Amino acid sequence: MDVNNRVAIIGTGLIGRSWAIVFAGGAFDVALYDVGLDIAEQARGLVAQGLSDLAEQGLVNDPKAAAARVRVAANLADALDAADLVQESLPESIETKRSIFSELDRLAAPEAILASSTSTIVASLFTESLKGRHRCLVAHPVNPPHLIPLVELVGAPWTAPEIVAKAKAIYQAVGQAPIIVKREIEGFILNRLQAVLLSEAFRLVEGGYVTPQDLDKTLKDGFGLRWSFMGPFETIELNAPGGIPDYCRRYGASLSALSAANPGDLRRREPRPYPGAMGEGLDARSGRGAHALARSQACRAQAPQSLPTGLSDNGVRALLPCLQRSLSQECAPNAVAVAFTVPQTIPRL
Ligand SMILES: NC(=O)c1ccc[n+]([C@@H]2O[C@H](COP(=O)([O-])OP(=O)(O)OC[C@H]3O[C@@H](n4cnc5c(N)ncnc54)[C@H](O)[C@@H]3O)[C@@H](O)[C@H]2O)c1
Repeated sequence: MDVNNRVAIIGTGLIGRSWAIVFAGGAFDVALYDVGLDIAEQARGLVAQGLSDLAEQGLVNDPKAAAARVRVAANLADALDAADLVQESLPESIETKRSIFSELDRLAAPEAILASSTSTIVASLFTESLKGRHRCLVAHPVNPPHLIPLVELVGAPWTAPEIVAKAKAIYQAVGQAPIIVKREIEGFILNRLQAVLLSEAFRLVEGGYVTPQDLDKTLKDGFGLRWSFMGPFETIELNAPGGIPDYCRRYGASLSALSAANPGDLRRREPRPYPGAMGEGLDARSGRGAHALARSQACRAQAPQSLPTGLSDNGVRALLPCLQRSLSQECAPNAVAVAFTVPQTIPRL
């Protein structure tokens, strides 16, 4: 890849700082820019601390060398100097994004990629009038990106495919797990899935079916452990002998009924047949399906056969060495790192 290994972090709040940890830990030179030099300077200290915390978990080799790659830029033009990638992480408003992207497009080198961390605003809403709009895209992280590797790459209709491909290669090079959202859609992928899950969670709690604590447990001690190394499509491919189409034939109607109904209405609803076409492309008999099947079978074979039950935070930590030994590098190595750290930092109910 033809890159200078330089990134400009524009906005050094929660997300910008975390991006700085990702890139510095991934051997990039990092320039920090914020409205005030003091804010960026303070962020530099927090980035160094973050790198040292990661090193304690064995996730960064040389935190001092990584921290030394981070500098505070004197101004926006200085931050953009020779940057391959500009990671904008300013507050979430269309006006702010429009204004900063106009500046970035004016000042950055023509080959620099301009990426926004925005959670909710599609790139076509703030890049349409720019001369360099072909090099702009959304690169939406999951908070905090230095612990959770997923990043959603979402181009506008005019974003050049080679820009998306180059951005993907850069994020991969620093240990992130980029996915490509093929067309702009509100909420991208992760937040749309989260919205469905949360809205059902609220319905179940409000309907008196479960306590919030037990609902959280369902994810923490149930799906969450499985989903750290195997996605829902991989799971259902293994849940029926003929893969996903077979799963849809067997369970599609009831799945459809459950997902469509209010909990209290379930018994009164006629199940709709589940659309099978989506599953056909992932058939275990096709090349792609076979690959996914092989990968998920490998994960399953290497996963612990029995998991401790009744996990608490301490239980999760106790489980991790076991997961670490059992999961291959191919099976989402960062998931283990995430599970190590999240219980210490996420506030609990
Ligand atoms: N917080 C999250 O959980 C999360 C997750 C994913 C994506 N995002 C997205 O990341 C972006 C940043 O969010 P955040 O939570 O880090 O916000 P934040 O408020 O913590 O940080 C914003 C930073 O931008 C700086 N800033 C404001 N105006 C500026 C300007 N004109 N020039 C330079 N710097 C300026 C502020 O001083 C601050 O340091 C948003 O677009 C948000 O939607 C946030």
